Amino acid sequence: MIPATLIAKKRDAKPLLDEEIRFLVEGYCRGEVADYQMSALAMAICIQKMNQREIATLTDAMVHSGTCLPRCTDRPRVDKHSTGGLGDKVSLILAPLLATLDVDVPMISGRGLGLTGGTLDKLESIHGFQTEMSIEQSSELLKQVGCFMIGANEKIAPADQKLYSLRDVTGSVESVALITASILSKKIAATLDALVLDVKVGSGAFMKTMDDATELANSIIDVGKLSDLPVTVILSDMSQPLGLGVGNAIEVNESVEVLRGEGPREVRDLTIELCADVLVKVNRFENRDSAIAALVDQLDSGAAYERFEQMVSAQGGRLEFPLSLAQSHSVIAPHEGWVESVNCELIGKTIVEMKGGRSRKGDKIDHTVGMEMHLRVGDEVKVGDRIATLYCPPQQLADRLERLTNIISITEKPPQRPPLIVMRVS
Ligand code: URA
Repeated sequence: MIPATLIAKKRDAKPLLDEEIRFLVEGYCRGEVADYQMSALAMAICIQKMNQREIATLTDAMVHSGTCLPRCTDRPRVDKHSTGGLGDKVSLILAPLLATLDVDVPMISGRGLGLTGGTLDKLESIHGFQTEMSIEQSSELLKQVGCFMIGANEKIAPADQKLYSLRDVTGSVESVALITASILSKKIAATLDALVLDVKVGSGAFMKTMDDATELANSIIDVGKLSDLPVTVILSDMSQPLGLGVGNAIEVNESVEVLRGEGPREVRDLTIELCADVLVKVNRFENRDSAIAALVDQLDSGAAYERFEQMVSAQGGRLEFPLSLAQSHSVIAPHEGWVESVNCELIGKTIVEMKGGRSRKGDKIDHTVGMEMHLRVGDEVKVGDRIATLYCPPQQLADRLERLTNIISITEKPPQRPPLIVMRVS
């Protein structure tokens, strides 16, 4: 049990000592600190923040709650992580794509968090896909395929596994300290040579403003430095979902399209940008232009899709694409004009309500529900146009289609389209 004075200390904005932080993380992993106490502490951290020393110690304690993946090939080891956003399926494309270019990608990902989806939930839409693996199995996969995608587990960053699912359902996601420690604990445990981070900024992200996104980027770069992990950061737009599909199976389908050289342009472009940064960082290519040319080639030739297929079957998945979705229903535009903004919160909430995400710890996910957007900010819209297609079992439809006409706001003049990449920090 945590002495209540320790939670009160953080609540009163006093920094925790290193030994107090380690005691909390170790106690939580051993089951001696209860979920309700940890959730009170997580909320105190969200409100009162942590200084850089506290964040570094929290990250280190979370790494040491488990073990680190041993080296098993002589290829450079890289990865990307996103702070989470609607429709963000980049990881599914990026890991196999990078692996085709002779780097290893041991991707330790997360589940859905708050209103945003998670890579592991998406992958589990594929029948039989295993997101749990022993250290020995993961090393074997790196040797054979060059990439894998698993979750934090009892061996690798177990503290993140426990804390992540608690934060998901207790409104304690949006904290620079907790996001930094969560992301870096998984990445340091994977023994990476370089990490590229995609910090999402906008209404569909945890970081809604540039100031918050920059603070998170700097926090991760600084704590990465202390752990000898070079991190480059791209701040990318999340004022609307990335690509068209939002949900689990629907995002796997869209990822497969991009892996086959098709799919929405912005998903392909962002994936290539993130890959190029990390390939240059480990000297796999001399500059971004040569890296980009090679990446385009791997997507268009089908090599990246082939590697994805290898990874899916090596992790027990059965490849039957496209994955099936719940019944489709059209959301129709009530008047004409131009799309000024997208209500990401309403999209995220709708997916969670339809059981595409969790509102309680351990909730079972319905992978078939989701939404496909047909309009983006800056598009012209006419009365009767389809704004989106909702994939939803009929018994859950109720008045959803009517409510969802509010997922876009319509203006009379064409607004500016937001840039995909907002800023680079390194
Ligand atoms: N991704 C993570 O792994 N953890 C967070 O807290 C947020 C995004």
